[in-house]
Amino acid sequence: MNEASLRPDAIFSRGPDITDELEHLVRPDVVHRRLYTDPDLFDLEMERVFGGTWCYLGHESEVPDPGCFVRRRLGRRQVLLVRTAEGGLRGLLNRCTHRGTTLVGEQRGCAHRFTCPYHGWRFDLDGRLQNLPVPDSYDRLYERPFDLGQLKVASHRGFVFATLAAEPPALEEWLGAALPWLDEHVDRYPGGKLKVVETAVKVEYGGNWKMSWDNAADGIHATFAHRSYNLIGKEAETDTVLARNPTDTPMISRTLGHGHCVVDQRPGIPDGPWSTMRPLPTTDELVGALSETGRGDRETLDLATGSMANLSLFPNLVFVGNQLMVVEPVAADRTRLTMYLTLAEDAPDEVNLIRMRVDEDFVSFGTPDDLEMFERVQDGLQVVEEEWIDISRGESAGDSVDEHGLVTGDIATEAPIRAYLEEWKRLMAKPIPTTVRRSRIEAAKFDKRLRRQRRNTETT
Ligand code: FES
Ligand SMILES: [Fe+2]
Repeated sequence: MNEASLRPDAIFSRGPDITDELEHLVRPDVVHRRLYTDPDLFDLEMERVFGGTWCYLGHESEVPDPGCFVRRRLGRRQVLLVRTAEGGLRGLLNRCTHRGTTLVGEQRGCAHRFTCPYHGWRFDLDGRLQNLPVPDSYDRLYERPFDLGQLKVASHRGFVFATLAAEPPALEEWLGAALPWLDEHVDRYPGGKLKVVETAVKVEYGGNWKMSWDNAADGIHATFAHRSYNLIGKEAETDTVLARNPTDTPMISRTLGHGHCVVDQRPGIPDGPWSTMRPLPTTDELVGALSETGRGDRETLDLATGSMANLSLFPNLVFVGNQLMVVEPVAADRTRLTMYLTLAEDAPDEVNLIRMRVDEDFVSFGTPDDLEMFERVQDGLQVVEEEWIDISRGESAGDSVDEHGLVTGDIATEAPIRAYLEEWKRLMAKPIPTTVRRSRIEAAKFDKRLRRQRRNTETT
């Protein structure tokens, strides 16, 4: 691009429609550093991206019975995923409607109702205000909008997504081209039964949340950033996938619309995922136990390794091997990653034990490399004189585009970065009407009506 055509680092203006500003910040081949450093942009992302589109909330296996709940975040908002008394799913804002206290403090649990620890207001599993001390001190209490804020919730094959958008597209429509990839991931499990393990690995890094997206489909970094991880594999004489020349492998990277993408390593592994496994603690014994009972076939062993197809559902869920990695923005320069291990419910115990060893392996020896790179990028972006970040790799060489505009390239392409930033721009451009705001507006109207009624009563 022509450097002279770039405007200087403009002060961010928060208008209702900021399309022009966003077009300035995200170009076809470069992106402005402020996307990673600007707290105002971050605030707007929390409102419009992490409130205005479907975000992954949790898995149905985490809330199996009525009353079960898990505490999550939608951007910076505390939220609850609840299994209702009737067996349905609810997404609730975990914010007491009295004075704003975080209602539920536990990460997960089972309850008949939620009682606020501050003044004892009590809500049922659907979020309706049920009871409170000294109710007589309020005027027409149960007609006022004191129920908990509601998210829209939808589930596909056990994966639960939520949004505050008042009129989101149907979940399946939003998943679009990513839907068959998600189905394929679930179908890999015997009977399609997948269980999310309660305890998760949480890590934080001093960098912007979008670095996780830049990295999710970045096939080149693995050769360099994960060099020590790859050397461990080489020492064990294993054909480590990440160590290959990224432009000399049939693995593919594909954009899937709405910012989603997938990196499929399987075309580069003709002998199946198990062929890339090096010995990990106890795995020899576990494989021996499987073989002794006639269950050591390749299909069963392949289930123990990672899926080898990393699906990313923008903005907060990445399938990394067998893990569900949830991206949780904390601040413009701080992000939490929560990694949930998944088990194949109907597989032999040995398979699930190997899955745990596989998960620990990359989290221990691979993830720290990524976090180090994210923090170095964040630090590098403090150089205000260098405004632009290049995202042009693959733009003019090798990528193919289908009739829907979806791009397929080798794993070296940066097409997935360009694609998610298009979706980011679309979401960031305008305010999105939300379920909660709507109820607040209705509340304001209701209050007005109450006041009018009261005036009428006083004058008659
Ligand atoms: S803030 Fe929850 S009852 Fe007062
Ligand atoms: Fe990585």
